[in-house]
Amino acid sequence: MANGPVPRPFLKWAGGKTQLISELIARMPKQFSRYYEPFLGGGALFFSLYRSQKIRLAFLSDLNAELIDTYLAIRDYVDDVIAILSQYPHSKEFYYDLRIRDPWKMPLPERAARMIYLNKTGYNGLYRVNRQGKFNVPFGRYKSPRYCDRENLKAVSNALQGVSIKCVPFEKAVEQADEGDWVYFDPPYAPLSQTSNFTSYHATGFSPEDQKRLRDVCLSLTAKGVHITLSNSNAKLIRELYSIPSFFISEVPANRAINSNGNRRSKITELIITAYPQEQPTQLRLFGNTARYASETT
Ligand SMILES: C[S@@+](CC[C@H](N)C(=O)[O-])C[C@H]1O[C@@H](n2cnc3c(N)ncnc32)[C@H](O)[C@@H]1O
Repeated sequence: MANGPVPRPFLKWAGGKTQLISELIARMPKQFSRYYEPFLGGGALFFSLYRSQKIRLAFLSDLNAELIDTYLAIRDYVDDVIAILSQYPHSKEFYYDLRIRDPWKMPLPERAARMIYLNKTGYNGLYRVNRQGKFNVPFGRYKSPRYCDRENLKAVSNALQGVSIKCVPFEKAVEQADEGDWVYFDPPYAPLSQTSNFTSYHATGFSPEDQKRLRDVCLSLTAKGVHITLSNSNAKLIRELYSIPSFFISEVPANRAINSNGNRRSKITELIITAYPQEQPTQLRLFGNTARYASETT
């Protein structure tokens, strides 16, 4: 793995995992071949693993086409992306001019520069589109946002060389995963309460049926000998779905900055679920045979 500046997530992303990284790293498999991250978002775990030289071959994907195009542009045309971003002024007028432009009519590096600029200067780093698929986040209140962080963009581009980056649904993304590989799933979180159900399902587009499909994908991957790590909310639905012998559930404190209610900051717990075919006996010894659900918050 190349030396040089260390890459960090270059986008703010709702549900970004920076806060949970140490908990995820503490539970990662001891050994693995290929690394898959099918709900990529800002890629916090990927960049962290890259920094500690843990990754040999990576397969990154997400269903958000603009997000994936931004990664592709940084991987393949980083100098063009930087050159475009360095011309962009920080102003409300420019923000709204850029926001109304159709990203799909822009060349790839410009589309990526638009995404980074809107993400770094828009309200709270939200990604939100209306029914017509048009980005509709208002201008943010930052004094001097760093939307053209040359050094980090170059480091990210370096980290992405040789990495597979695709816009595909999660099931498709892991079709080729095989014995000894590791998949980290970080899906849109299941809402915690009945009252937040309606808005959350619509906001994330990830229904209880999707959560169940994901659990089934985890089960078939485990049967193939693939290591699985999954993060999700501490919702009843998720505890129920994964309370079966293949999985080990731990509850960890999390400090999420952006949640389904906007920018309200709250201290909550989240679940990290693992299924490591060869390593399961060690975990069972550590936490006790009957403890399928271990709370680490007390
Ligand atoms: C919780 S975020 C991931 C955050 C990421 N781990 C980070 O550190 O920023 C969930 C991601 O899943 C993506 N997504 C939603 N439904 C999907 C699906 N069916 N297949 C693949 N990706 C999906 C969203 O576009 C979003 O980027």
